[in-house]
Order: sequence, then C-alpha cells, then structure tokens
Amino acid sequence: LNILFVASEVVPYAKTGGLADVAGALPKAIKELGHNIIVVMPRYYQIDTANLTKLQEPLGVPMGVMGEFWAGVYTTMMPNSKVPIYFIDYEEYFGRSKLYEDGDGNAYKDNDNRFIFFSKAVLQLSKMLNFAPDIVHANDWHTATIPLLMRTRFVHDFAHTKSVLTIHNLQHQGHFFKGAVDVLEVGWEYFNAHDLESNDGVNFLKGGISRADAVTTVSKKYAQEIQTQEFGFGLEHHMQAHAHKIYGILNGVDYDEWNPAVDKLIAKKYDVDDMSGKAVCKRDIQKHFGFELREDVALIGFVGRFVEQKGIAMIASILNSILDFDVQIVVLGTGEKWAEDFFSTTSYYRPNFAVHVGYSDALAHKIEAASDMFLMPSLFEPCGLNQIYSLRYGTLPIVRATGGLDDTIHNYDEFHESGNGFKFYEASNDALYHTIKWALDVYYNSSDSFLAMQKRAMREYFGWDSAALEYVDIYKNILGR
Ligand code: ADP
Ligand code: GLC
Repeated sequence: LNILFVASEVVPYAKTGGLADVAGALPKAIKELGHNIIVVMPRYYQIDTANLTKLQEPLGVPMGVMGEFWAGVYTTMMPNSKVPIYFIDYEEYFGRSKLYEDGDGNAYKDNDNRFIFFSKAVLQLSKMLNFAPDIVHANDWHTATIPLLMRTRFVHDFAHTKSVLTIHNLQHQGHFFKGAVDVLEVGWEYFNAHDLESNDGVNFLKGGISRADAVTTVSKKYAQEIQTQEFGFGLEHHMQAHAHKIYGILNGVDYDEWNPAVDKLIAKKYDVDDMSGKAVCKRDIQKHFGFELREDVALIGFVGRFVEQKGIAMIASILNSILDFDVQIVVLGTGEKWAEDFFSTTSYYRPNFAVHVGYSDALAHKIEAASDMFLMPSLFEPCGLNQIYSLRYGTLPIVRATGGLDDTIHNYDEFHESGNGFKFYEASNDALYHTIKWALDVYYNSSDSFLAMQKRAMREYFGWDSAALEYVDIYKNILGR
C-alpha cells in the first residue's frame, strides 16, 4: 500500500508529547511490513535544515479567501529507516519558538490558519510528488480536516484515497471561529452539527471524525471511554454515532530508544538478567538531585506535562504526607505555573523531594532507569507511554485505572504472585495516597515479591510490530482489499 502519514510533531525532529513518539515509530513499523509510507510534518524553525535536502519546486497552497501561499519543502530519511519524511516550510506560520503556543502558554491566535495551511500543503505535496496514496493517515486535531478536505476541495485528486484519523487526546479538538470555513474551502454545507460545527464554531476534530473512513484511538479502553460523558469532552454523542468505525489500537514502544539494555543516556546499562546497573542509575540520580545516597530507599519518579489530565492536583495534595515516609521523589515536567511553583517550593523545604522544571529527554531516561516506582495517576489517559517504558526499566507503575493505563497495568496480587504495578480506581487523593503507601509497603516488606514483579514487567513486550499489523488491517478493510 501507499500510505501518507501526517502529524504535527515527530521524534526526533519536534516533540511536546506522546504523539511525536508514535509518529516517529509507527511509520517505520509499517514500512517493515513492506508498505510504501512517507511522513509529512511542519518545518518548525527549531529544526535545522543543514542535513536536509530542499526540493527545487515551491509548493502552492490555496488558502481560500486569503489567496495562494507558497511553501518550501525539505526532505530526508527518518533515522535508522527507509522512511522519507517531508517538512513543510513556511516561516510566517512555523518560524516561531514553540509549536502551538507562545512563551506564556497561550495558544497562537492563528492556529486554525496554521494547520489548515499545513493540512492542505500535505495534499498538495502528495500531488507534486505523484505519490497517489491509498491511505492518508492523519493524527489529532491539527490534521483532522484532511479527511474532509479529501472529500471536498481536493476530491478531484483523492476520490479513491481512504482516510484514517487517529485520536491521541480528545480533550484537544481544534475549536475555532467559523470564518475558518472560508479558508478551508469545504463549503458551508459542512458547517452543521453532523460535521464541522459545534457551539457555532468550527471543530476540526469533529469534522474529521465524521468524514474519516476509520477513526482509531490509542487503547481499547479509551475507545470505549470516549463514548461516555465522563471522557467525551462534549463529543460523546458524536463518537457514539460513529462507533461502528472506531477502533482502539494500543501504542507500542520503540525499544531502540526506550530500553535499559541499549540506552546511551543512562549511567549504566542493565537488563532483566543483570539488574546491577539499575542501582548505579539510582545513585546517579540521587547525586544529580542532591539526595541522600542510599540504595535501600524507595525512589519514585514522575515525568510528564503539568496539566490537569496527569493528576498533578492529586499529587500536589498528598505530596507532603507521602514525603513523611522513608522515600525519595523526583519530578520532571513543565506546564501549569501553579504546579511548577508548588513543586519548586516543596523541593526547597523537603530534602527528599526534587523537581526539574523543564524539558529534558536525557533526564526522562535517567529517571525511568533510576526509579523503583513510576507515578502516573492520570484523570484520563488515552494510552500513556511512560508507564509502558517504565515496565521495561523495571520501574513499577503506580497508576489510575483509566484508558491505556488500565489496559497495560495489572495490579499486584500477592496470592498469585502476579501483576506488574499498583493500580487504583477512584480519582481521589485518598485512593492515590493509599496506593502509594501500599507500593512502599511491598517495596520494604516483601522485597522478593517486588523484585519478581520487576522482572515480570521487564519481560513484557509492547513493540510496534503488532500495532502496525492492526493498522494495516484497518487500511485494507476500508479499501475493501
Ligand atoms: P502525553 O502525550 O499525554 O504527554 P505520553 O505518556 O503519551 O503522554 O507521552 C509523553 C512523552 O513525553 C513521553 O515520551 C515522556 O517521556 C515525554 N515527556 C513529557 N514531559 C517531558 C519532559 N518534561 N522532559 C522530557 N520528556 C518529557
Ligand atoms: C496523547 C495522550 C497519551 C498518548 C499519546 C500518544 O498525548 O495524552 O495518553 O500516549 O497521545 O498516543
């Protein structure tokens, strides 16, 4: 099959979250199944073009009432693969310091035009390359208008192409002023409650869900949850109406990158047969954060965006009582200002707590390797990657039973000696507190069981190969092949 894979962020070029990990790995796995796949993303100006090839021809992108814009295109091969990636270069839209928001965390005011432009540029590029895709695979709200564009403004060239839209997070829908319809050029007949319209504005994701031939999301549990009021973010009825074409496919892990046996970013490599390196990694992090250097103290890690989704309010509420136990806690992340301030202040007063406010891939790896437990008490979690990385690092996840966390983490069961982590159900401070306390109790008082569980976790496999097969099945299904 010819597949055009589109995302607003792709590892290793630009990343704010798990979408980039997925977009950096899934296309390679599909390629390995023998398909012809190319990837397209914006050229943010943090991406150095020195090692990229510039295409000769400029790319014309029709922007409706605003006229035609001319973009540049760069290309290269994705690392360790034969997957070509193309970058759409348009300084006015992508020559900014951050991907979606300014330094104060406010979304750019022209995000509608930026991503309409990018989505149209993708389809124009496909024509320019004579790529003739069987499938266009879009991701999240940024590129969610592509399925609709393929049936309207671009129907002439894509009438036989099918589309897949993957939802990585239903909270972000791309909701804009309705004037966007004129820039999209899809026709006002699509501005209705079954397609683009919600609350008298344009909703990119909603329109994409209506017109995509298949909609996928990143775990089976989340595919169910988004059809309920609690997790639907106002689109639950829309999801129910399209339930027949919604599939849940659990994300995989790129074990070339997230694997303590090959990880170049950690102090010492280790694997399930020889875990001695993990103690070296722990000491390394204890040194880095000025903790007491002790092998026998439980170290709990957290890596993630400081947003409501990740359960940071619950963590903040119980943090001080947990720190009264014999435990060390280290947190890496950025996001809501109150959380950055709260964690920084706490680290000032509590010698067994440390935070790094910022984004650091190297620290993320080091914390995964060093910690005994990984904290992820999300309110909702479409898939979640860090808990799956944690398993491979023998770092037992403490999670709330939602979305992909529920699908991947099984509770410790002392009677059957089974499970790979600690899981709670109610989104309450109490439930989180008692679960952490329970995990600490197992760590200190049943250390053999704890070690056995770490080894079970490290032996689990979540590679991309099986997920890639599931995606290809869906592609073939909607193509009727
Ligand atoms: P989400 O996409 O909702 O943020 P995921 O668990 O799917 O959650 O993926 C988050 C990814 O981003 C992981 O690879 C994680 O290591 C990384 N990450 C998040 N915050 C940071 C940070 N401050 N520094 C380094 N990596 C981070
Ligand atoms: C989103 C979700 C996260 C998921 C990631 C990759 O950002 O919040 O749960 O793992 O996308 O699919």
